[in-house]
Amino acid sequence: MKAVTLPAYAKLNLTLDILRKRPDGYHDLQMVMQSVELHDDVTVALTDGVGIVCRCGDIPGDESNLTVKAARAFFDGAGIEPCGLSIDVEKRIPAQAGMAGGSSDAAAVLRALRRLLMPEMLGEELERISARVGSDVPYCLRGGTALAEGRGERLTSLRAAPEFTVVLCKPDFDIPTPMLFSRVRISELYNRPDTPGMLDALHRGDAQGVALRVKNVFESVLPKEYIEIFDIKERMHRLGADATAMTGSGPTVFGLFRNYAAARDAYAIMAEDYEQTFFTHFV
Ligand code: C5P
Repeated sequence: MKAVTLPAYAKLNLTLDILRKRPDGYHDLQMVMQSVELHDDVTVALTDGVGIVCRCGDIPGDESNLTVKAARAFFDGAGIEPCGLSIDVEKRIPAQAGMAGGSSDAAAVLRALRRLLMPEMLGEELERISARVGSDVPYCLRGGTALAEGRGERLTSLRAAPEFTVVLCKPDFDIPTPMLFSRVRISELYNRPDTPGMLDALHRGDAQGVALRVKNVFESVLPKEYIEIFDIKERMHRLGADATAMTGSGPTVFGLFRNYAAARDAYAIMAEDYEQTFFTHFV
């Protein structure tokens, strides 16, 4: 049985800005994305059977699973007859957390299928297929440090960000993405990220400049019931984080640390209160 196992890295938003509401009801975003070493392991195997069998932790492995959608999009985009597949995802990245875990698993399936079935396929062709699976999937395919625009599918790769150790803390509640978007009035948004300043700091390799400009505009429209997000940020700052923010539409909060020992201590302290606390770094 031919099989490939690939890592699917989580992402953070170093910045997230909302530029405008579009006629199709979605919003144009501008985000600086960064992948971190926290990852799922995705194994794709060609089987003798027909159809796709997907096992993905607690997440249903049916046609709604983004990895299954990715496999279907691959067969369709490559113009090849679907074959039997098994997809096994060893989950570490929490779901519904703002870390693009599902999109990253889907991107790993696309890379695995190219390797197994069509190694000659160009990267840009795979990227084109990935955009049909979901807005974050093209970024997850590329990884690293990148500017994502539009709904997230328009990408510009950037110089790799300076190194940071990362503490991630996911509180035990979900924040519905549509609810957050529905609270956005573009003209009333305050506390928006300085994206050009962030791009400049990244270009210069200026770690302090990067830390200063970490910002997610969704924090300014969070309803009061999610105040815990700000408590976590405040605690991480007191524990020595150079920057903190919510990632994506939350609820995960991350702290960036230049000081490894401070990050280790912060991790230990936050992990006492939050079961889903992770210690990781940029990749
Ligand atoms: O992409 P996803 O299906 O998670 O988005 C959920 C909802 O969030 C969309 O139906 C839309 O209302 C809103 N959204 C948006 N602009 C985006 C992404 C999502 O308005 N770029």
